[in-house]
Amino acid sequence: MALMQWSEKMSVGVPELDADHKELIRIINQLAMDTSDRNRLGAVRQSLFALLRYAEFHFAREEKVMTACGFPGIEEHKRAHRGFVARIRALNHKFDADPDGSAEIVNGDLLRFLQDWLNHHILIEDKAYRAAAEANPEARKAAKAFKATEIWWSG
Ligand SMILES: [Fe+2]
Repeated sequence: MALMQWSEKMSVGVPELDADHKELIRIINQLAMDTSDRNRLGAVRQSLFALLRYAEFHFAREEKVMTACGFPGIEEHKRAHRGFVARIRALNHKFDADPDGSAEIVNGDLLRFLQDWLNHHILIEDKAYRAAAEANPEARKAAKAFKATEIWWSG
């Protein structure tokens, strides 16, 4: 059975962002499969990289949506995003430096962290902007218009 599953109660009211969350969950489930076998360290590395890249893309898109609907908690929310990216980026570096010695990656601590973090983030922190985003057509417009390349320019 998959480690995580998206459900309707996780919906943030913006279909593009729900789709992003489903993709993040899919990557984490893939990582759970990869880490179940020490012979799949190459796959772990790929999945970790995918998680970092997709999280960066999704957070940037989500922040555009929050800006578009004037969500007042955006600065605090951005800090949570930055903290997560920093942690996953550090793990990527650690893994690159010593794939065999990266115990944190292969022993389940990482998966528990990812599962807890994403569940909490979506259900509590992301859902805080749901009412504002759902009610504002500019939010959906911002989500649809967002391009992956924007993360290279916005810093
Ligand atoms: Fe978020």
